[in-house]
Amino acid sequence: MFGAKGEVLDFVRSVTSLPKEDRPAFGKHANAIKQEVEQALATRREAFAQAELQRELAATDFDPTEPGPRPARGALHPITIVQNELVDLFTSMGFVWEDGPEIESEYYNFDALNIPGDHPARESQDTFWLSDGNLLRTHTSPVQVRTMQRLAKNGFQPPLKVIVPGRCFRCETVDKSHEHTFYQMEGLVVDRDVSVANLIHTMKTCLRVILERDVQVRLRPGFFPFVEPGFELDVNCPFCSGKGCSVCKQSGWIEILPCGMVHPNVLRQGGIDAEQYTGFAFGMGLQRVVMLRYGIDDIRQFMGGDLRFASQFPEVPR
Ligand code: DAH
Repeated sequence: MFGAKGEVLDFVRSVTSLPKEDRPAFGKHANAIKQEVEQALATRREAFAQAELQRELAATDFDPTEPGPRPARGALHPITIVQNELVDLFTSMGFVWEDGPEIESEYYNFDALNIPGDHPARESQDTFWLSDGNLLRTHTSPVQVRTMQRLAKNGFQPPLKVIVPGRCFRCETVDKSHEHTFYQMEGLVVDRDVSVANLIHTMKTCLRVILERDVQVRLRPGFFPFVEPGFELDVNCPFCSGKGCSVCKQSGWIEILPCGMVHPNVLRQGGIDAEQYTGFAFGMGLQRVVMLRYGIDDIRQFMGGDLRFASQFPEVPR
């Protein structure tokens, strides 16, 4: 009806056959008719579409008033969850979060930490070397000296309390308990009269919060060139409460935290007067803590990208 050959259009066009003086009145009239017909058609179409929709709806059990499916939001990685908790805990105790580069110099990764080129400790921290002589850091400890130097350069002296969460690398053969890429959290406290008692107290507080239970700890001697004395701190096994099980290899204890009193050479490298100040440091393997917390038995899960693993952790809150 509205097409090039439609009746309505023919009618509107017929205006040309009228005498000039009649044309305006006719045009007005014709346009009003055209609009009226268009309006009527639109109403009919709308009603038809509604009826069609109702028919379709009646034929299915689709309920348009129900909320749609929620898109999955994803979960935080378990290492991130535990790292966030640790950062919260330590910052509440007055520690400051420090960062350092993952591509590190040989000096900060080794020499400044009392590990000269011919030291056997270098062998246990074999890593990936870059063609420019730098390397992928094997631990977060280099940030100890970086932080002390920066503060000393700016004229600051201790007290100093920092934590350094971060990614580290080693040239490891990957298996159930070894990864070439892993996460640590370093801690460093320097002040006057800092003692092993301060170290034990801080570590106990940290483990109690992270493992969500009361813990007992014990210290065994451990060798790390950048601390003296150095310790391996063990926690009583959270799986058997110290009675002995397969996780703790029947010993009742789990080795969890290497730590110690900062070696005077390291303080000196950091520009701090080792006669006046002492400090403690620790290097927590984050994966290990996460594995204990969630009962994960294979370190390869963390970077395996398997959604069945990743989706077991709480969804990111909305
Ligand atoms: N950096 C050491 C490692 O990765 C761990 C460590 C041991 C860190 C003793 C420390 C410490 O701060 O005091 O093997």
